[in-house]
Amino acid sequence: MFVFRILGPNYLQFRRGLNTKLLQHVRPLGNSSPFYKGNATVSNCKAKISGKTPRRAVLYVPGNDERKIQKISSLKVDCVVLDCEDGVAINRKEDARNTIAKCIPNLLETSKSEICARVNSVSSGLYQEDLETIFRNKFMPQAVMLPKVEKWQEIETFFDSINPILKPRQHSVVKLVIFIETALGLINLKEIIESTIANSCATNLLFEGIVFGSDDFCASIGVERTKNSDELLYARQKIIANAKAYDLQAIDMVHIDYKDHEGLETQSIEGASMGFTGKQVIHPGQIEIVQKCFSPSVDRIKWAQELIQAFKEHQKLGQGAFTFHGRMIDMPLLRQAESIVDMSLILENNN
Ligand code: COA
Ligand code: MG
Repeated sequence: MFVFRILGPNYLQFRRGLNTKLLQHVRPLGNSSPFYKGNATVSNCKAKISGKTPRRAVLYVPGNDERKIQKISSLKVDCVVLDCEDGVAINRKEDARNTIAKCIPNLLETSKSEICARVNSVSSGLYQEDLETIFRNKFMPQAVMLPKVEKWQEIETFFDSINPILKPRQHSVVKLVIFIETALGLINLKEIIESTIANSCATNLLFEGIVFGSDDFCASIGVERTKNSDELLYARQKIIANAKAYDLQAIDMVHIDYKDHEGLETQSIEGASMGFTGKQVIHPGQIEIVQKCFSPSVDRIKWAQELIQAFKEHQKLGQGAFTFHGRMIDMPLLRQAESIVDMSLILENNN
């Protein structure tokens, strides 16, 4: 593989050694946390919250729309979300659940994308039926998306519902991504994350990311979306900081004006430079632009590979900080370089 040719065959071994050190920075849950659940130790949680499934573009497909579902296998998109929630009218919920359950086996076979299902929120009272219909089958979606989380208690309730469904399937791993889309969810974010990690560590439902639901958030704070999204800056930054503090993915808002590709590119570049790892999309025409903006460039990958190589050499000489391309390099820059190389390896493998 291209990356291995440059970094040499010992790269993975080197990476594993560093992982041990780097994971000390991952702070899943200490036993001082009110959500600590005995078995949720740093060592058994850290592998579970690595967040390495690429989700550069996250495409919604209404769960009751078979025509759109048929399209999925022809799309080159990291992540597809079959929706039971707001993309589906209230009188079509049952239709959506049944259609999703019916289409999952074929999608898992024919599509290269991660196939997920977005259930209704805990507060809607509809999510249990979604889970029963979609996840109590031989073929399940690869991830569950839980919208409109506002309090850690909802997380506990959700796990109480899904655990009995997943327990008999201990060898299957399902990923979990939660949505923050209200003012209350935003101010309760740390507790929500810690509760999700604690529950996730005790099950085969692995918590990997947080989605920012921008339009619901605007409704929640009583504003209209503007072109430059100034009204969302604080929420976006808070979600990024909290997600990154726990080594989770942060997935940015939808650009609902789906024919405006220029605006989409500007917003995607901005989101990526703020620290988001991906972006929600609603139309196939948005996928390529978003995935490009959330992929490391060839130059950036080369920079990262050379930096890792230089770091290895300076470590041998006992030098922690050193100069590379005219700039001071130490651990934080190494970590950045590694996540770039890791992502490029994952993307190369997926192609
Ligand atoms: N997933 C899969 N295929 C899609 C799609 C999607 N999200 N959106 C559009 N397509 C397909 C259409 O079916 C159409 O295929 P066809 O030519 O074989 O009929 C093709 O792509 C072109 O679509 P287009 O005619 O430009 O759009 P549309 O009028 O069919 O749909 C939307 C526009 C916005 C209604 C549609 O993109 C959509 O439903 N998006 C998801 C919305 C959603 O889930 N919102 C909730 C989460 S924010
Ligand atoms: Mg929403």
